[in-house]
Amino acid sequence: MSTINYSDKIPNNVNLSEDRTLQRALEQWQPNYLQWWGDMGPDGSQDFDVYLRTAVSVDPQGWAQFGHVKMPDYRWGIFLNPAEKDRKIHFGDHKGEDAWQDIPGEYRANLRRIIVTQGDTEPASVEQQRHLGLTCPSQYDLRNLFQVNVEEGRHLWAMVYLLHKYFGRDGREEGEALLERRSGQEDNPRILQAFNEETPDWLSFFMFTYFTDRDGKFQLCALAESSFDPLARTTKFMLTEEAHHMFVGESGISRVISRTCAAMNELKTDDPAKLRAAGVIDLPTLQRYLNFHFSVTIDLFGADESSNAATFYSTGLKGRYEEGKRLDDHILKGQTYKVLAVQNGQLTEREVPMLNALNEVLRDDYIKDSIGGVGRWNKVIEKAGIPFKLVTPHKAFHRNIGALKGVKVSPDGQVVSEAEWAANVDKWLPSGGDRAFVASLMGRVVEPGKFANWIAPPVMGINRQPVDFDYVRFN
Ligand SMILES: [Fe+2]
Ligand SMILES: [Fe+2]
Repeated sequence: MSTINYSDKIPNNVNLSEDRTLQRALEQWQPNYLQWWGDMGPDGSQDFDVYLRTAVSVDPQGWAQFGHVKMPDYRWGIFLNPAEKDRKIHFGDHKGEDAWQDIPGEYRANLRRIIVTQGDTEPASVEQQRHLGLTCPSQYDLRNLFQVNVEEGRHLWAMVYLLHKYFGRDGREEGEALLERRSGQEDNPRILQAFNEETPDWLSFFMFTYFTDRDGKFQLCALAESSFDPLARTTKFMLTEEAHHMFVGESGISRVISRTCAAMNELKTDDPAKLRAAGVIDLPTLQRYLNFHFSVTIDLFGADESSNAATFYSTGLKGRYEEGKRLDDHILKGQTYKVLAVQNGQLTEREVPMLNALNEVLRDDYIKDSIGGVGRWNKVIEKAGIPFKLVTPHKAFHRNIGALKGVKVSPDGQVVSEAEWAANVDKWLPSGGDRAFVASLMGRVVEPGKFANWIAPPVMGINRQPVDFDYVRFN
């Protein structure tokens, strides 16, 4: 079960050839997927041989094989973690019952919605990132971008497999619609707002993979608890791929910081204008990008109070992050949780039924996790002897969903007037000038071992290859 069959047209470890109808349906979807990849995948990459990892088994050790692959020939497929014997549902109203191998009729609509919403983010991010290859800071980074892109494509396969196998005709229609929506397109946009934003430059890309792919991690972790066993097994394998995406983001920002700090020490200045003239990204600009990506991403967890969240949990569709490690009753009736509200112009906390606050619970877990990496970035600054600290903004800053939607709050958590907001917004969020400056740095560097001036080389190459390895052959 853990070994993947690559002799089928669609690589898989789910014995696809034993279900002819399903195999045929997916083989019909496959050319449409490839067409989408050709249209919306990485710009101009069709002839490149890229040093990619491909899954060869789902064992934690050695699941990946590395080698140069022509990008459109990447073997996208269907990989599920092995089934856990006699797995039981471990939260919600069905706690203690056997996990479902099929979908109970009454939960079909909700599960379909959950799977489609997750699935929609995968091609969306590929679309958002499709022009970045044209301005890559190095071959190493270009390769990492493409690795992230092919794996997001595979995540789409993971969700489309579930739709085809368990949702019949409805599922097949959803599979088609997933290839038809387009990130940022007005008449047929992607489902979630953060996936309709542009990823116009590499600083945004690194922030996106650090913050927004981490939202992916938390959503997938919550779905990995699901009573619907095939969803749990699929998302568990997706998580192993997601870890690399967050690594790309964390190490990318870390290298930007490292380069900036070196320039600050060389020039003995913290003046953003002088640093910009030297072609590096000043730390306050990094802070504004961080503020933007953090706030847009925490909106993805949804409204702070949500009856859907309660239903998804109680019916066993979606658990909490690390559900199995928690020591409560895993039913949560009668328990409460604190959410933010605005009262008399001040932020206050309000206790609400925990079941309704599960979006907030997941958001808070996410925030704890994302602060970790910001701490590691600060270590780089500290090591350079520079008195500056990056911070994640207050949870209420720049929010666009739930009780905080439209409330103007500063990064340090003060409710401010419209006028104060307008006077400070360019200090708090990337301004047009910031974005134009960052855009001006984006040139294409593809000579092996060379790096754009605004970013330091990585400490190590990929898969123990040297940093100046030919990660991409352009042909
Ligand atoms: Fe993904
Ligand atoms: Fe990802």
